[in-house]
Amino acid sequence: MSVRRPRRVRPGGAHRPGHGPDLGGARHRGVDGGSAPAAGDGGTALARAPRERAVNAALRGVRLTHRFGAATVLHEVDIAVHPGETVAVTGPSGSGKSTLLHCLAGILRPAEGEVWLGPDRIDGWSESRRTALRGSRLGFVFQFGQLLPELPAVENVALPLMLGGMRRAEAVTRAASWFGPLGLDGLEQRRPGGLSGGQEQRVAIARALVTSPEVVFADEPTGALDTATGERTMALLRDLVARTGTALVVVTHDAEVAARCHRTVVLRDGRAHPPVGRLVDGGVR
Ligand SMILES: Nc1ncnc2c1ncn2[C@@H]1O[C@H](COP(=O)(O)OP(=O)(O)OP(=O)(O)O)[C@@H](O)[C@H]1O
Ligand SMILES: [Mg+2]
Repeated sequence: MSVRRPRRVRPGGAHRPGHGPDLGGARHRGVDGGSAPAAGDGGTALARAPRERAVNAALRGVRLTHRFGAATVLHEVDIAVHPGETVAVTGPSGSGKSTLLHCLAGILRPAEGEVWLGPDRIDGWSESRRTALRGSRLGFVFQFGQLLPELPAVENVALPLMLGGMRRAEAVTRAASWFGPLGLDGLEQRRPGGLSGGQEQRVAIARALVTSPEVVFADEPTGALDTATGERTMALLRDLVARTGTALVVVTHDAEVAARCHRTVVLRDGRAHPPVGRLVDGGVR
């Protein structure tokens, strides 16, 4: 199984977090000197891999295992996603798709295995540190109930920026700059209750992308939408991540959505079929 590499991220396409949509070119995120893989750190091929190898992948899950009580719902799942790449996660209900996304996004700490975000191993980070990641380097699009009903749409989008310490006026201005590209012009002050399902979903996408995350996760983002709106929403999401160099991991039951992603990982009973992205000699095949 070969991994299709997305085009390289151009260092010239620098895009600082929170600076509005940069749809003209991929952005490069520098290494911030975080916890790079070190010899003896976990003892895996990944931990022993050259730093460049780890930096090249936006995100890696290595032998991820998770249990709820006595039930093991994820079994040694390996997954790697590169900048600008889209990976679909499919499988029957209960097969572990949401659990996998939650482990990768730091919502859950896996019982075993490793999660690497660029050069940083994040699975051991504290809950508050992992939560902070979801307002900065990671974005998450949930299927339902993701917007705060009492806040206008633009403030919903601005929220991650404000939680990251940005002044309200600046955050709202930056959030508003996403409304045009997403076809939401004029809806900035509308509360979520006054938006259609598709509009709400696009606001949620804006909120997930506003911080220029390295990886965006979407758990059945089109599940509540009619086919045409779902297709438009997915096309938009794919286009945005491709242009900004963001990696996308999307859970979907929709074969059409999966077919338009670079790769598909199928989960059955918590196991990946085929085990796409399994680590071989410190690399990915
Ligand atoms: N908080 C929890 N406590 C106990 N069991 C859980 C919990 N969350 C999920 N599970 C179980 O873990 C398994 C995987 O659940 P998960 O939500 O990851 O499935 P899924 O593939 O996303 O399903 P769906 O397509 O229905 O959303 C299921 O058997 C589920 O019942
Ligand atoms: Mg699910």
